[in-house]
Amino acid sequence: MTMTQEKQPITTNSAVPFPSTAIAADAARDDAGIAKEDAAWTDRPEPAAGPAPITVETPSPEPQDTAEPAAGRTPKMRADRVSVFYGDKQALKDVSIEVHDDRVTAFIGPSGCGKSTFLRCLNRMNDTIAGARVAGQIELDGHDINAPDMDVVQLRARVGMVFQKPNPFPKSIYENVAYGPRIHGLAQGKSELDGIVEKSLRRAGLWDEVKDRLQESGTALSGGQQQRLCIARAIAVDPEVILMDEPCSALDPIATAKIEELIHELRGRYAIAIVTHNMQQAARVSQRTAFFHLGELIEYNRTSDIFTNPREQRTQDYITGRYG
Ligand SMILES: Nc1ncnc2c1ncn2[C@@H]1O[C@H](COP(=O)(O)OP(=O)(O)O)[C@@H](O)[C@H]1O
Ligand SMILES: [Mg+2]
Repeated sequence: MTMTQEKQPITTNSAVPFPSTAIAADAARDDAGIAKEDAAWTDRPEPAAGPAPITVETPSPEPQDTAEPAAGRTPKMRADRVSVFYGDKQALKDVSIEVHDDRVTAFIGPSGCGKSTFLRCLNRMNDTIAGARVAGQIELDGHDINAPDMDVVQLRARVGMVFQKPNPFPKSIYENVAYGPRIHGLAQGKSELDGIVEKSLRRAGLWDEVKDRLQESGTALSGGQQQRLCIARAIAVDPEVILMDEPCSALDPIATAKIEELIHELRGRYAIAIVTHNMQQAARVSQRTAFFHLGELIEYNRTSDIFTNPREQRTQDYITGRYG
């Protein structure tokens, strides 16, 4: 890897301060693993298997639709020509995309391009915004999430969300995690609930830090711990998809590295979609990246392709820092 050029495309192997290079290497390895498995269901050319670094010289794949073809795999979530309006203003234009359950999908693009708006479509959080209107079809496991028989409370448990600013309830650490399972009736008694709380905190990488202070307020934790508590809260109701809207933007680099590490650990267990304005973060944590610009999905592809070999000039301009 040469570091002499002024504008170097960002890759999973780019030198970045956080997290450790081990994680970055792991990301590259993961991507290669997924690429291998992808070969079974797409006819795209196969990059070298194994932990080889992603090279810029990978032959460019034949043109394909912006939204990845399903080709035999059922996506966890599918958006088909989704548009969102705030009053008269159209914030999102005909976005079609598929999210798979064994991957991290990153949404990138300049501020105001509709990333949060799109993320909120996936668990109907736009329902809570007065004047917002969503058109198009969104499916979870092939079921229309806007169908009359879809229970929106249930949907938001299946498709959990973590926000930019950590927002624990002003309750104890224990209660923050126990609340969801309790209202969804997931535990028979106290010991089962205790078990869910512990398991969720462990998965969120927080257990060891809080196990002796479960009755303290969640809001007394550090920012990074609060964000992991929010992730534990989402995990506690056994979600299938976790949406994260710039989960690290309020955190310091060390807390950010912990969240990125956690995303690595959670991948495979949940489908994860993450909005980030940090391209290096997208390169480190995701296997698929969707680039949005002015309410449109410009390009959706393997993360390595987006950052080393984008098909669209606008993507190229964005990743090389020409705007945004
Ligand atoms: N609640 C809202 N009411 C009106 N307009 C909104 C609202 N939320 C977002 N918008 C507008 O929709 C566009 C996309 O916003 P957003 O999805 O927040 O972008 P991003 O997350 O990419 O920064 C912007 O022009 C923004 O001003
Ligand atoms: Mg946003």
